[in-house]
Amino acid sequence: MAPFTPLDGLLIGTATAAVQIEGGDRNNNWYDWSSVPGNIRDGSTPVRSTDHWNRWREDTELMASLGLQTYRMGIEWSRIEPRPGEFDATALARYREEIELLRSHGIVPLVTLHHFTNPSWFQGLGEWTVPASVDIWLRFVRHVVAELRDVVTDWVTINEPNVYAVQTHLFGDGPPGTSSWPAVRKVLRHMAIAHCRAYRLIHDLQPNAQVGFAHHMRVFDPWKPNNPIHQASARVNSLLFQDAVADAFLAGRFHRLLGRPPADIAAGRRYYDYLGINYYTRTASKRMADATFPGSPVNDLGWEIYPEGLLRCARRLHDRYPGPIWVTENGTADNGTADNGDLTTGQLERFRCRFVNDHLTTIATSSLPFERYYHWCFVDNWEWKEGEVPRFGIVHNDYATQIRTVKPSGRFLARIIAEGGISDAAREEFIEPQEYPSSPGEGAAGKPHSAPHDR
Ligand code: BGC
Repeated sequence: MAPFTPLDGLLIGTATAAVQIEGGDRNNNWYDWSSVPGNIRDGSTPVRSTDHWNRWREDTELMASLGLQTYRMGIEWSRIEPRPGEFDATALARYREEIELLRSHGIVPLVTLHHFTNPSWFQGLGEWTVPASVDIWLRFVRHVVAELRDVVTDWVTINEPNVYAVQTHLFGDGPPGTSSWPAVRKVLRHMAIAHCRAYRLIHDLQPNAQVGFAHHMRVFDPWKPNNPIHQASARVNSLLFQDAVADAFLAGRFHRLLGRPPADIAAGRRYYDYLGINYYTRTASKRMADATFPGSPVNDLGWEIYPEGLLRCARRLHDRYPGPIWVTENGTADNGTADNGDLTTGQLERFRCRFVNDHLTTIATSSLPFERYYHWCFVDNWEWKEGEVPRFGIVHNDYATQIRTVKPSGRFLARIIAEGGISDAAREEFIEPQEYPSSPGEGAAGKPHSAPHDR
């Protein structure tokens, strides 16, 4: 039995994104995209999702009852600015109420300003492929930060620019559903400029702000360790998918693929207060294909479960860009055996407690400055092109009735927070009954540089 694993000093909570939970909003590009038959695996749209827009009070109370210490949430741009330049004060007031309730429970809010979705009107203008996108988004950022700076100090500017760019402009798995390398480069360039300027703008408005972006990182290892082609493919994947993005967003260093930075962005200046890392899995790199190592533990979407990878990614980033590390997302798809059926007879999950334990233990044993851990996600939510199928929550959602049921992992996280670490007794209760599924053999995980949603 492992000794007590202390996690004191680590702030623990959950993360989510507005459109994945709120429901009701028909003014954003993912609603438009999901309304086209065939685009979403189960034919769902985000209009239902978890109805959090109406149920935010009970969700916040539930979160508080579990003792969660921090909450990463999104503010949906299309609600705040339904028409260009027109801001909806009622929508912002509703977010303020939610944030105030979080704070009254001592839950620290971390607010994301862009998480994959755009207002439909912004999409129509050419979204992030056009240079004008930068100023248009900054106008929204200025408005939100100026209005909420008395209740929010911690901000994520942009979530996973690399996933956004390849998912929507290379693999065609999200709006506009095209495949064009030049578009990927333009999107990343404009998002990088927008992030660096937002970093400065937010600090001008709020000197004590903590600002960063949520970087999707994964480990790329060669499929055959001694094969030079697989080695090169792992290196190129890593450079294109994550290293070039980190250089531009964290330090204003634009790789030539992103073009020269504008004069106000200086290479080598610091554009982050913390290193935000979204970590899910490892990819085995072959030639132009990605794969999963045979026999490795995998989740319900076939993504390898590889806790050590979190440290490898964090170390890689931190060596180049020192700073406090916030794991802005880490989680797994585990539908259990009950799914939407009879919750009294099926299991709500098969391995999520083990996943939480293994990642948190890895953090605890590292000397890197981990400060926060956000588990993705709180209530099972709408998973983009996968719709309502995969379940990532520590709380089960019955989509038909919207009844929430805390899963073992929710109780496990609550216990970890209450005890300040992972005890033997908690391990025995929550982890021992659980096992990881393993990958069948030669993985066929899909496309190069694929995002989680593409695998
Ligand atoms: C995204 C989330 C998504 C999660 C699980 C991350 O890449 O930021 O929006 O739900 O992965 O697929």
